[in-house]
Amino acid sequence: METNILDAVHALTRSRLTVALTGAGISVESGIPPFRGPGSLWEKIDPTEFAHIDAFMKNPARVWEVLMGAMKKVLDTARPNKAHLALAEFERRGLLSAVITQNVDSLHQKAGSQDVIEFHGTFATLVCMACGKATPSEEIGLESLPPLCACGGIYRPDCVFFGENIPMEALGRSREFASQCEAMLVVGTSATVQPAAMMPVLAKQNGATIIEVNPTPTPLTAGVTDIFLKGNAGAVLSRLAEAIPIPARG
Ligand code: OAD
Repeated sequence: METNILDAVHALTRSRLTVALTGAGISVESGIPPFRGPGSLWEKIDPTEFAHIDAFMKNPARVWEVLMGAMKKVLDTARPNKAHLALAEFERRGLLSAVITQNVDSLHQKAGSQDVIEFHGTFATLVCMACGKATPSEEIGLESLPPLCACGGIYRPDCVFFGENIPMEALGRSREFASQCEAMLVVGTSATVQPAAMMPVLAKQNGATIIEVNPTPTPLTAGVTDIFLKGNAGAVLSRLAEAIPIPARG
């Protein structure tokens, strides 16, 4: 068996508390484009113009037309892939305590993961900026943009725009896991957006083994990562799931 996979198997089976940190790359095989790199979202549109809260407040219709509407169409129909399913299986098998995800696509929950910390919020609910009513995203059509609540207020997704704070509970729980875990599985993130990218650094400082899954190296790979598993999340995590022995019953 490949040495790195074996090292990862040992680290995961030895660890008494393991947490995963995931990014857009884990959902690429579900048909959701990443934010950076070839074919990515930020290659086509400028995030400061469309993903900043000031841009949204200034012209919500335009942000809905150019970015949010297209995102909603993709996210409403996306299904979990082998990588999401593998992480849910790790949790069921007692190998993983929680997933900290930067993604807003709910695919970890759809795959069966129970403890998912949504670091950048979620696109699954839209919130009226006037009355505060939250409505499942799939119940809201895109016939007229921006989508409006019955009260006349404008809907926004319940996710974090650039220029906004990370939800307090998500940040607090993530920091706690990062400082207590013995292993962290970092999957499909470019590790360039703070404070999410600090979580593996914090974990490493507290003695955790950092296992990174990515087809290309990131700023973590050389100095923070202990075990680099090069490849797509679906193939690598399925391989890891197969390689971890299931304890005999009785
Ligand atoms: P990025 O788009 O920055 O990075 C995606 C990472 O996934 C890259 O490192 C790719 O090499 C890797 N990747 C691509 N395909 C993959 C595959 N099949 N399997 C595994 N990895 C793959 O996404 P994030 O790091 O999640 O923020 O971006 C962080 C934040 O930046 C996002 O949450 C979003 C964005 O602006 C907000 O919306 C606030």
